[in-house]
Amino acid sequence: MKQSRITGLGHYVPDRVVTNQDLEKLMDTNDAWIQERTGIKERRHVKVGGKDTTSSMGSAAAKIAIEKAGITANDIDFIVFATLSPDYYFPGPGVLVQKQLGIKKEIGALDVRNQCSGFIYSLSVADQFIKTGMYKTILVIGSEVHSGGLDMTTRGRNVSVIFGDGAGAAVLQATDEKDIGILSTHLHSEGQHAEELALIGPSTTDWVDKYIERNDPDESSHFPYMNGNFVFKNAVIRFQQVINEALDKNDFSAKDINLLVPHQANLRISQFIQKQMMLSSDQVYNNIQKYGNTTAASIPIAMSEAFEEGKIQKGDLVCLAAFGSGFTWASALIQW
Ligand code: COA
Repeated sequence: MKQSRITGLGHYVPDRVVTNQDLEKLMDTNDAWIQERTGIKERRHVKVGGKDTTSSMGSAAAKIAIEKAGITANDIDFIVFATLSPDYYFPGPGVLVQKQLGIKKEIGALDVRNQCSGFIYSLSVADQFIKTGMYKTILVIGSEVHSGGLDMTTRGRNVSVIFGDGAGAAVLQATDEKDIGILSTHLHSEGQHAEELALIGPSTTDWVDKYIERNDPDESSHFPYMNGNFVFKNAVIRFQQVINEALDKNDFSAKDINLLVPHQANLRISQFIQKQMMLSSDQVYNNIQKYGNTTAASIPIAMSEAFEEGKIQKGDLVCLAAFGSGFTWASALIQW
């Protein structure tokens, strides 16, 4: 059986930096509260009316990953794109990337809807296609534009200070080498908590014409809702469970991890997990301070930066883990 390896990584974030001080001008919040509760200092937002979209940022990240892998866009056999903020209701951004990268082959393009766990879910799908021999080279992308859909008033402050825009991408390729690349992936969900972190409408359960007809100034279902405390409590448990599941499956323990790249949900969540699992600061990568929570993009952005900084080396044991809306949670263990 083939193994899949990550042979190229790339990331792209919009130029526009939005600091906590910038948010203070829009809503009743302050830098001290945001940093103390989340660790975030600034995030990126696309420029209103600018060139960056979920698919274009995904393509920009993908171009770098493709170059780093030493291949061309036409070598790609399949695209998997994770996002909760697609350019359009339909079609999904996967086919837009195929167009934007000028891929001539009529390859498949799959869109994945698993929010913060979306990148690991996508990686898992790509890994299965490679392991079964169906495809040799797969492009996996996570990209989000949150900024235009956030409630930038005091009403939405518990959510809007957290999220940021950006994209990350990885090229996965088949290898005949044993015990290398993606060792295993682990996917979970608990749908009974679907509405605890969700954007409900307008949607097929509340079509946009009905929404407009109501014309209710207090309407807020078009903004994301998050039960922050409940999400936090579940996140710290599920992250540890799913990391341990990956370690147990491969006969490793926490001390063997060279780098844990957790989904950048909240610095306090990452620090809690680090402490509980007795990991050193060198073993855990965080960049939420600069980008906020970029949902499906956070892991590939963090992995790409960690790699650029030399924090991921050949032979390293790298663990990816995520938790978020759904609830969904997931992990991947990679022997680099
Ligand atoms: N600025 C200032 N005050 C704020 C605020 C903001 N941006 N957001 C909320 N507050 C206020 C609340 O109104 C509340 O005030 P009150 O005590 O007068 O009612 C107080 O701060 C505490 O709110 P609470 O929601 O209990 O804070 P918290 O300690 O739980 O922190 C989160 C809020 C969102 C940072 C935290 O719950 C969290 O990180 N949750 C998980 C988030 C996450 O990971 N989401 C993505 C999943 S992938």
